[in-house]
Amino acid sequence: MKLNAEKLFVAMVGLPARGKSTIASKLKENLLKDAIKTRIFNNGQLRRRLMRENTSYPEFYSPDNREGVRLREKIALINIEKANKYLEHDGNIAILDATNVSGNRRNIIVSLSNKYPLLFIECINNDAEILEESIKRKITLPEFQHLSENVAVRSFKQRIDYYKSIYDPLGKERNFVCLDSLNNKILKEDIRDSLPYYDRIRDFLVTDSVKNLFLIRHGETYFNLENRIGGDSRLTQKGQSQAVALARYFRKKVIPVIFTSEKTRTIETAKPIKELQGHCAIIPLREFNEIDSGVCEGMSYEEIREKMPSIYASRKLDKYNYVYPGGEGYVTMQERIGRGIKKALYLSGNAGNIMIVGHRAVNRMILSHFLYRRKEDVPYIYIPQDKFYHIIATQDKKLFQLKRFEPLSKN
Ligand code: F6P
Repeated sequence: MKLNAEKLFVAMVGLPARGKSTIASKLKENLLKDAIKTRIFNNGQLRRRLMRENTSYPEFYSPDNREGVRLREKIALINIEKANKYLEHDGNIAILDATNVSGNRRNIIVSLSNKYPLLFIECINNDAEILEESIKRKITLPEFQHLSENVAVRSFKQRIDYYKSIYDPLGKERNFVCLDSLNNKILKEDIRDSLPYYDRIRDFLVTDSVKNLFLIRHGETYFNLENRIGGDSRLTQKGQSQAVALARYFRKKVIPVIFTSEKTRTIETAKPIKELQGHCAIIPLREFNEIDSGVCEGMSYEEIREKMPSIYASRKLDKYNYVYPGGEGYVTMQERIGRGIKKALYLSGNAGNIMIVGHRAVNRMILSHFLYRRKEDVPYIYIPQDKFYHIIATQDKKLFQLKRFEPLSKN
């Protein structure tokens, strides 16, 4: 097959809520930065634009609903045609953003895209907890507004089941890559043609990309005043003022979601920020809970030194690898923090700004996920309560900036 070197068809594949649209739009943004003309042809959007009647009810997606199938195939054909026109004109990459899970649909794409090389990107994520959370976010879309939350969730899950019933896994296609879209990990890859732009697309797919991550530590707590560790202490007056000051600082930015731990102090810090935003959700993740100091929970460092000198000394000797009896160490936190970051990025979708309100040890681990630090230095990274970190980590830019927010004036 003679392939046109400057043009590429990309077809997304995957069940609903697997991150296809997020990946497609981030990829587009990334390519446009290098003047690679990219456009997304999204079947769902086109369907909502062309069809007045409501199509959010699950039976519309049943493979036995002949009228539903006919309409969805028609939408798919229109988008393939539009994508062809775009490539014929001056476009470089046309992305077909739809489930495309049946072999039948993919055969149609193959036969109608034959003037250009074609790459399938399959998004896979079977993490039940994340899917539940993603579905909760999906049903806030206007097409579900007339339904109660329970009915909307059920209807969305039924829609997923219909797609599952016609799912043909990739395998025969000439060029495809299967991606674990939660972990940015390539699970399977078969590229037989020399595809334009594939190097950079592949690199993009495996890169954790954060445009603006605001990493905040909770405000001052009663435990902080006494130098006590762990627990579930509330914010002091000063801690609450810090939260309000943060809220004012971020008021002009759009923060659609704030990830916290399950602890009172992070949620209390996030609440005033949420209040000054238009639409903002607080999502507590247990992965961002502070290091569990086991037998030392609730003690001050002075008490530990006096009452448990061997613990104090061993931790001092190798803080990164030391694990509190009955609790955790930095070394054992790494996996759950990594998982928390993946969850937060996945659930943020296309949001340009992501905020995490965490704890001292947690924020050290989050920072070290994006910024290389020798392991032995991680437990000493500076995590103040009157400043926050602004992190950008994309394929072409890395930024770590410690920023101060104006405290509230006393009078
Ligand atoms: O003191 C606040 C705190 O978040 C504790 O809950 C936690 O044990 C500690 O900081 C972590 O810091 P380090 O590892 O330096 O003891």
